[in-house]
Amino acid sequence: MIKYVVNGGRELSGSVNISGAKNAAVAIIPASVIVEGVCHIENLPNISDVSLWLDILASLGAKIRPMGPGGVEIDTTNLNRTSPSPELMRKMRASYYLIGALLGRSGRANVAMPGGCDFGDRPIDQHLKGFRALGATVGIANGIVEANSDGPLVGGHVYFDKVSVGATINVMIAAAKAVGMTVIENAAKEPHIVDLANFLNSMGADIRGAGTNVIRIRGVSKLRGGSYTIIPDQIEAGTYIAAVAAAGGDVRINNIIPKHLESITAKFKEMGVKIEENDDSLRVIRHGGMTGTNITTLPYPGFPTDLQPQIAAVLCLSDGMSVITEGVWDNRFRYVEELRRMGAQIQVDGKIAIISSIKGFSGAPVCACDLRAGAALIVAALAASGQTVIDGIIHIERGYEDIVAKLCELGADIRAVDFPSGNPVMVTA
Ligand code: UD1
Repeated sequence: MIKYVVNGGRELSGSVNISGAKNAAVAIIPASVIVEGVCHIENLPNISDVSLWLDILASLGAKIRPMGPGGVEIDTTNLNRTSPSPELMRKMRASYYLIGALLGRSGRANVAMPGGCDFGDRPIDQHLKGFRALGATVGIANGIVEANSDGPLVGGHVYFDKVSVGATINVMIAAAKAVGMTVIENAAKEPHIVDLANFLNSMGADIRGAGTNVIRIRGVSKLRGGSYTIIPDQIEAGTYIAAVAAAGGDVRINNIIPKHLESITAKFKEMGVKIEENDDSLRVIRHGGMTGTNITTLPYPGFPTDLQPQIAAVLCLSDGMSVITEGVWDNRFRYVEELRRMGAQIQVDGKIAIISSIKGFSGAPVCACDLRAGAALIVAALAASGQTVIDGIIHIERGYEDIVAKLCELGADIRAVDFPSGNPVMVTA
């Protein structure tokens, strides 16, 4: 069993390159299913969620050809199966994008209900409402979503009751080749929604308004293949900002889009972290103390829920009291119990966490219960006195490319160590 072993207390310095955005990649790969031809996708992060998606598409009949680091060619010309293996599908949340993609391609999808990180009830009612608005019949039986349309989907009007990233993406994919116009109202506005629209438009789709709350999709009869480069990962970049804020130091974060990070950099600046912005990089400096603040997570452009655990770890080390209100998920404070093992003083009441300032974290054995919880434990461990051993790293490797190597480059003492029978064996630097 591989765990991360972190000896904390070292300041970070140097520079780090941010990888392609996980949440864009896990939407764009399945979206290639509605393209008839060859898609060449660049800047894919080397993470387990991406390899899982490529396995799923290969299992449906797509040809996958790696094209150097971060590149892949996906040929869906002969993709002819509409029932992916439930076992593969349950391994990740974003597997539901295959419902929209298969419906849009062949009018039929039988897809297992998704898995992924557990932070409360994760319904897909808005996705299903969207497919129905396009004329599909949708039902759930024995854990499988069955969606069918007699003939091609037909454009429709969808008003989401709740802002949902996944439902917005799923309906955009399904509607790209529907007959006529689809209008999505109360759409999510995350950067990866704009990235997906740009990908589909570069393949011949006609999607306007992505990035606003009304998206208009005029269906086209065919999407041709082409090349596309995925945007940088705003949450990975935010995690490195949190790491520097917690451990202290001076780090340049390269390959980012500063606009996508505005709500994040604003909060860290408020806390006393120095951030210099350039065209496609940031310099993050933290030598002195930080002050606590209050944060409410919200859909983009609000502060992202996917950075809430990491900034909570930093707030523990900031003067005064901080309050986090989780505005997206019902149960996203499960990591708090693990941070408490390291000395955190956090009171949780439903969707609110009250964080008291501590002098510092102390290393402890902890377990990552989900992807971003794992990132928060790394952030805390980098600042801690002594050694932290982080279990459950399978979650972290779903979403962070080479996190151990990237942090080592910055001077952190972090290693992936195999614990086969209680005796640790080092496996990577
Ligand atoms: C995506 C991200 C996830 C992030 C989340 C919010 C991916 C692969 N995952 O998840 O990392 O935390 O956005 O930024 O991109 N909801 C419903 N009905 C639905 C769908 C959602 O009630 O049909 C609710 C959810 O329970 C939640 C809220 O809407 O409270 C937001 O969910 P959504 O934006 O759909 O999250 P995901 O797309 O699953």
